[in-house]
Amino acid sequence: MDGKTRVCGLMANPVEHTLSPLLHNTLSKKQGLNRIYVPFKPVAEGLDSAVKGAYALNILGLNVSIPYKQEVMKSLCAIDENAARIGAVNTLVRMENGYKGYNTDLAGLKRALDIEEIFLNEQNVVILGAGGTAKTAAYLSCMEGASSVYLLNRTVTRAEQLAKEVNKWFTDVQVIPMALTDWPLLPEKKYLAIQTTSVGMHPNIQEAPIEKKEFYSRLHTAVDIIYTPFQTKFMEYAKKSGARTTNGLKMLLYQGIIAYELWNGTDVPEETAKYLYECMKKELLR
Ligand code: ATR
Repeated sequence: MDGKTRVCGLMANPVEHTLSPLLHNTLSKKQGLNRIYVPFKPVAEGLDSAVKGAYALNILGLNVSIPYKQEVMKSLCAIDENAARIGAVNTLVRMENGYKGYNTDLAGLKRALDIEEIFLNEQNVVILGAGGTAKTAAYLSCMEGASSVYLLNRTVTRAEQLAKEVNKWFTDVQVIPMALTDWPLLPEKKYLAIQTTSVGMHPNIQEAPIEKKEFYSRLHTAVDIIYTPFQTKFMEYAKKSGARTTNGLKMLLYQGIIAYELWNGTDVPEETAKYLYECMKKELLR
């Protein structure tokens, strides 16, 4: 670091277990850019002052994670259209009069699926969960032209609310909310499933949101947003039924890479992305 070092960082609470500093600092080193990426843990009542203070300190860009992705929107000078529609921002990009908010979780999920040659277009998609990631997955599925999108959640009212919020932006396809236990009512088709609940995440690695084998036999592809453990019970069940599976590490990787590209105006080559993926995987399996 010297007088020309530009600072980026992550605002989240808790922030201690993040892989983002590893990702961004390795990336800057690889790209030969004089940048440093640090974790910040603002207190809830201090979020707006933290954003204004970061701007005043000439901080180049920020990531935002749980629990601030919605609240931070009040402190920005502009918001990207997709981020505004999803109602969540995870990346702040420095502009002339403040930070502009983006949602690179959306673009990150798309790039992660593209790289794996998992395409949502004309697919029957089933999403498990109704939190922020489920909303991103539902929005992306509609945006990419899925044939049908079923959203299953333990609390059905949350699924209904999410569907209402996403459906107002689309006419060709509509998200259909259902109770998680109603999966046997899904039309007899082959599905691409995106698992966004916290079920099965470390330390509860023996759990899956649906335990029945019959559900998994309906899947041709199973994406779990969880990456700790590296192979979840959900992925294990799906694999046993013959589906191809992938975890959430690539989504995490690409949301970070896209933020980096926005901050620095550069393209990160795929070869570098692969190298970063291996670094993150090594850290996770350590
Ligand atoms: P995100 O991190 O994507 O924003 P969240 O808001 O924390 O997610 O939501 C977690 C998701 O996991 C929710 O869909 C939650 O279901 P409810 O809306 O019914 O709470 C789901 N979830 C958590 N524990 C669960 C369990 N034991 N069984 C089924 N679903 C569960």
